[in-house]
Amino acid sequence: MLKTAICDLFDIEHPIIQGGMAHVGTVELVSAVSNAGGLGIIGSGYYEPYWVRQQIHLTRQQTSKPFGINIQLASPFVKQVIEVVLEEQVAIVTTGAGTPEAYIPRFKQIGIKVMPVVNSVALAKHLESAGADAIVAEGMESGGHIGETTTMALVPQVVDSVQIPVVAAGGIGDGRGLAAALALGAQGVQIGTRFVCSQECIAHPTYKQKILEAHDRSTVVTGYTTGLPLRSLQNSLTEQYLALEKAGASKEELDLFGQDRMHMGLIEGDVDDGSLLSGQIAGLIKEIKPVRVIIEEMIAEAETIIANLKNFQIGG
Ligand SMILES: Cc1cc2nc3c(=O)[nH]c(=O)nc-3n(C[C@H](O)[C@H](O)[C@H](O)COP(=O)(O)O)c2cc1C
Repeated sequence: MLKTAICDLFDIEHPIIQGGMAHVGTVELVSAVSNAGGLGIIGSGYYEPYWVRQQIHLTRQQTSKPFGINIQLASPFVKQVIEVVLEEQVAIVTTGAGTPEAYIPRFKQIGIKVMPVVNSVALAKHLESAGADAIVAEGMESGGHIGETTTMALVPQVVDSVQIPVVAAGGIGDGRGLAAALALGAQGVQIGTRFVCSQECIAHPTYKQKILEAHDRSTVVTGYTTGLPLRSLQNSLTEQYLALEKAGASKEELDLFGQDRMHMGLIEGDVDDGSLLSGQIAGLIKEIKPVRVIIEEMIAEAETIIANLKNFQIGG
């Protein structure tokens, strides 16, 4: 069985983490992943504190296994959401869109484990010294908000720069990706897009279908001019957004134009005018499967690959 330091740290069976995902990382997906031996993570997005508390309670009803919560540091409710997470004593916290150092001591004080998502070596080192228990190194292949460095280049550099366990994210969709991440020195993987195309995920079927139809070059990055680049499937919305950016629209204009688009795309299934967050790995995903099957196939494939690597001849 594939066991790593991340399995011990979070008390999970498999080194597979479901990335926190706004709108679609809800109790249905989170409990399915945790029940299958991975780590499910609630995506708190920009949701209000009462919704976050409700999701925590619902998840506890669906699983007795560990699960985590992703806190969006850019959320207008971030402070109240943090209070909810502290009161509810969720076992594991991951963070997106910023640096959580100010909040780490309070989490640690009551034994909550903190695993920030980073896109640079500098931030990984900084957050290790601020007390993070592990780091997710997320490459720019990922769906959602991204940095500038690829997973292949970022992960080994982060691994070499910190002592705490590193989890690789971005562009991982099967056992080959898991085996590759472990070869780069990661102790596990965080996966987003592949889990959107699971039976349990509440994402709209038309959005899931768009991921299934995608190929290697179907995603596009918008928002470079706002400082918050976002990867999603190319559609009418991204074309209009990029045209506005090219024409020099201000951040305020772009924010207004982009308002509510994620819910529209991910949940309402408006595949033209809604935002369809997706990573570059979309082209590899051909079937909607139950979470347990996705995880078991990924582990089995990675184990076979690792066992077969010894067949490569070393030396003359
Ligand atoms: C639909 C969707 C929503 C996401 N929302 C968030 C989020 O709210 N917070 C966050 O830190 N990351 C978010 N992410 C990133 C994922 O947690 C994960 O790190 C990423 O998807 C990994 O790359 P992959 O899509 O290639 O697997 C999101 C990704 C997707 C596809």
